[in-house]
Amino acid sequence: MYIEQEDILKHISAKAFHLISEAAEELGVEVYVIGGYVRDIFLHRPSKDIDVVAVGSGIELAKAVAKKLGRRACLSVFKNFGTAQVKAGDLELEFVGARKESYTHDSRKPIVEDGTLEDDQNRRDFTINALALCLNKDRYGELVDPFDGLTDMDNLLIRTPLDPDITFSDDPLRMMRAVRFASQLGFFIDPDTFDAIERNKERISIISKERIVDELNKIVLSPKPSVGFDLLDRCGLLPLIFPELCALKGVETKEGIGHKDNFAHTLMVLDRLSKTTDSLWLRWSALFHDIAKPATKRFDPRLGWTFHNHNFIGEKMIPGIFRKMKLPMNEKMKYVQKMVSLHMRPIALSDDEVTDSAIRRLLFDAGDDIDDLMKLCEADITSKNPEKVRRFLNNFQKVRNKLADIEEKDRVRNFQPPVTGEEIMDTFGLPPSQPVGVLKEAIKNAILDGVIPNEHEAARAFMLQRAENMGLRPVKK
Ligand code: CTP
Repeated sequence: MYIEQEDILKHISAKAFHLISEAAEELGVEVYVIGGYVRDIFLHRPSKDIDVVAVGSGIELAKAVAKKLGRRACLSVFKNFGTAQVKAGDLELEFVGARKESYTHDSRKPIVEDGTLEDDQNRRDFTINALALCLNKDRYGELVDPFDGLTDMDNLLIRTPLDPDITFSDDPLRMMRAVRFASQLGFFIDPDTFDAIERNKERISIISKERIVDELNKIVLSPKPSVGFDLLDRCGLLPLIFPELCALKGVETKEGIGHKDNFAHTLMVLDRLSKTTDSLWLRWSALFHDIAKPATKRFDPRLGWTFHNHNFIGEKMIPGIFRKMKLPMNEKMKYVQKMVSLHMRPIALSDDEVTDSAIRRLLFDAGDDIDDLMKLCEADITSKNPEKVRRFLNNFQKVRNKLADIEEKDRVRNFQPPVTGEEIMDTFGLPPSQPVGVLKEAIKNAILDGVIPNEHEAARAFMLQRAENMGLRPVKK
């Protein structure tokens, strides 16, 4: 990995770096930028968080730097961890003193001692994350790379600086990080490092679900997420962190009829979708879209393999899985549920008769998420038969065109009933009661089925007529 020294210096030319340098001189400590920021210079990736390690007190250095930055700087000290953060504008600097660390077997609480730069680099996760750039005046911009991280960068290798059993035992989350970096950067995990993940995988149990999900999110957001999920599967971490996805694996054959491997299919859908969207939750929807296939799988001698209602059962499974994995139990989850429950609808429509009524109902149910749903459904077409794929995509185009037409005409995407419950109660002198709900539902259906337009006057006339059939009369005002 070659990069001009001039380019390196450019990345540490901001005023903050020079202030760190000055402060370190005054305190008489060695100081380095280390970790992701340095790695990303060589990978030509944008990076904003800057980790600074001082051979001495990181907190004292942070205080001195904050003072030099003046009023625009905001300093936070985490005494228990021996770290400090300085924020100034967009800049986020993390300071730590170089440490020698070792962890007890059953806890993440380290025994920490002051150390040299080398000690500090030894206890980092991967060789590419252990690169350090000196900021001291005489050595400004000098790279310290004791584990040949640059060669690993050339060879696209994720490798631990120490024996991987030690590095992973220090912090088992690093096993997930190895997979995440491989997926995010398009790197390979060194075979010895990979073997160690297989050996140590059970230790992931001491890591909080929140940290695990952070890494999963980064895998989901990587350019080709299947790389990460395949690695998680092959090293044996996947059944420990996401067993429901693992359960999609495998093909069963009965009477000579097999079904597709739903794990491979799901990852293919996720990759295809990832080419069209960066949305984290739409990508998660792809991971969940067939999650209930194992639970709903039946063999019918006439129909072969069926997965009836897997979309609805999947929708119901989601809150339990989200809770367990510490995914958010809020509108993001509701969105994923909606995508999963509706993911069969556009496909069903793409048979020959795409009626206006079916399209209106789809628009009504999907609301503003209709475009996302269509993306998911297009990505879901993974058939190997090119003729079938062509037919489906063609039909989808028809559905899209029709969706646009109907939306323009009927505006049902964010449907607001043109006659409200209050108006119904007022008209017939009713308290909140069942007939009010029946009338509201009848009006909605009449609009969605195209019996009446989505307008107040027509809806009111329809309501009066329907109410008469129900024996209701308007009250005189
Ligand atoms: N690090 C580590 N072990 C961990 C987490 C972090 O050794 N479990 C070290 C690595 O040297 C890493 C640095 O701390 O480069 C900063 O960590 P972090 O900000 O989490 O990751 P980055 O490498 O900066 O990557 P990203 O910002 O993409 O998460």
